Amino acid sequence: MENKNRQTDKKIIIAIDGYSSSGKSTMARELARRVGYVYVDSGAMYRAVTLYALRHGFVGRDKPLNREALVAALPDIHVSFAAGCGADGVQHTLLNGEDVENVIRDLEVSSYVSPVAEIAEVRRALVRLQQEMGRDKGIVMDGRDIGTAVFPQAEMKVFVDASASERATRRLRELEAKGEKVSYEEVLHNIEERDRIDTTREQSPLRKADDAYVLDNSNLTREEQMEWLIDLFDRLTGVS
Ligand code: DC
Repeated sequence: MENKNRQTDKKIIIAIDGYSSSGKSTMARELARRVGYVYVDSGAMYRAVTLYALRHGFVGRDKPLNREALVAALPDIHVSFAAGCGADGVQHTLLNGEDVENVIRDLEVSSYVSPVAEIAEVRRALVRLQQEMGRDKGIVMDGRDIGTAVFPQAEMKVFVDASASERATRRLRELEAKGEKVSYEEVLHNIEERDRIDTTREQSPLRKADDAYVLDNSNLTREEQMEWLIDLFDRLTGVS
């Protein structure tokens, strides 16, 4: 039923950027489902590369990131997605063919992903892959630089905003549901630190594209956010 009245030949690219834990991935996935588009979580790709770095000892506790070793290993790192291979029926991230969807969400990967995402060569390789994925349009991709660097020509750009405390509360709930024992302070610190790195890094810092629509979802329900997005989508694709 959701695709009713949305049968249009005009396929577009939807770029959703925003701070970590702003709920943009859930929102982007749901939007893709409703409009019948492919969904790509670009953050998962940076997370998968980070997992590879952790497993190969290129970074870790008391071990500064060995950029040279990671860059040299890039040709051996293959990130892809498999549609609905989990029991949950959602798309899973694969690292060299292995389903790593759950482990890339751990606090450990979250703690090391920002410096990995700062490496120009890592970004270049992943951005190229992301652009290939969007070649035929009909795609929703979320991340930090999708509307600015990956698809500056995207027809629909959304910048998602929410306060750090609200995002920390949501993230804590998610981690607790997975059985992880972490404190609110720890989660808030991780989010603030990632905000700082994401917005101040040299390579494609997180910023709102000039032509992006801002969605502050601090006080919106999931359904209200979805209505907002679908309205915008319908307007931009000329669906009545
Ligand atoms: O959206 P996320 O929290 O899963 O992203 C994980 C990290 O990857 C985040 O710290 C920033 C980085 N990232 C990025 O630099 N560019 C993107 N397009 C997506 C994520």
